Amino acid sequence: MGTPAFNLHKFRAAQRAAPLSDFARELFAGLSQGVRSVSPKFFYDAEGSALFDRICELPEYYPTRTELRILTDSAAEIAGQIGPDAEIIEFGAGSLTKVRLLLDALERPRRYVPIDISGEHLEAAAARLRADYPALEVQPVVADYTMPLVLPSRESAGQRVGFFPGSTLGNFSPEEALSFLQLAHRLLRGGGLLLGVDLVKDPGRLHAAYNDAQGVTAAFNLNLLRRANAELGTDFDLEGFVHSAFYNSPLRRIEMHLVSRRAQEVTLDGQRFAFEEGETIHTENSHKFTIDGLRALAVQAGFRPAAVWTDPERLFSVHWLQAPASQ
Ligand code: AVJ
Repeated sequence: MGTPAFNLHKFRAAQRAAPLSDFARELFAGLSQGVRSVSPKFFYDAEGSALFDRICELPEYYPTRTELRILTDSAAEIAGQIGPDAEIIEFGAGSLTKVRLLLDALERPRRYVPIDISGEHLEAAAARLRADYPALEVQPVVADYTMPLVLPSRESAGQRVGFFPGSTLGNFSPEEALSFLQLAHRLLRGGGLLLGVDLVKDPGRLHAAYNDAQGVTAAFNLNLLRRANAELGTDFDLEGFVHSAFYNSPLRRIEMHLVSRRAQEVTLDGQRFAFEEGETIHTENSHKFTIDGLRALAVQAGFRPAAVWTDPERLFSVHWLQAPASQ
């Protein structure tokens, strides 16, 4: 296969010499596997976040605008389910526009707790919200929301509501999605989770959304290599890899890969990684759900699925999943 064995000894020695960043560590481990992969969480440096914002504006990329439409059209009903004096816990802090739609519809929202691994994003987001919602307590938490975490204790009489829009759940494997939902359920007992997920649909439509005509998604995918070169000193040839995205229908997911155009070698932290022509780095899975499938998964995690909202074309769905106080 031309894939060098993972050299744990060398890797540990390198770690001792200079602590490697998470990105370096995960890229090194990901390139050392038979089937190479790296987590999509590393897409989002400043450049990657700007490219993702452009993706959201593309004519082919329906998820963002469809979810915004659902949240807008169903705001009153959603607010009715949540009730007054709620505390909103957002998993990730990327979607200020979306949480504003929610805050504007709710009766006296008391507190907003965005959880994100990046403290920079969080503080900027928090400052902007505080300015616009003076009555709202904004209490960001810097943490990895896929790990157990402790939240500031709740003071208000309203429900504690998790908010996880954008079909970010789709980035997880089915097992990871279940553990995330179990973790969310523990945090949200007595309240619920407002969850946005993309739906299974015509593969042609899905294909177009991840293979846009302007090549923005390709640039977003390739930015991972540019970022590695800039931050980790790798020597990826950006012309040597191409974007590939396709719908894997048995697994109901879009897969994104970076495909090596030729035999080549890349060096990371003193280790050389050989690529054959056509060999790929798997950079993202974006799972698509059916409404029933998502509700069944939520039940497995302890939730009681209540309302679900969708658009007329049934492209995207927003779920209200209750977390009963005791069962
Ligand atoms: C942010 C994970 C929901 O999977 O559609 C967009 C990321 N990747 N185009 C998605 C993404 C390529 C997006 N999520």
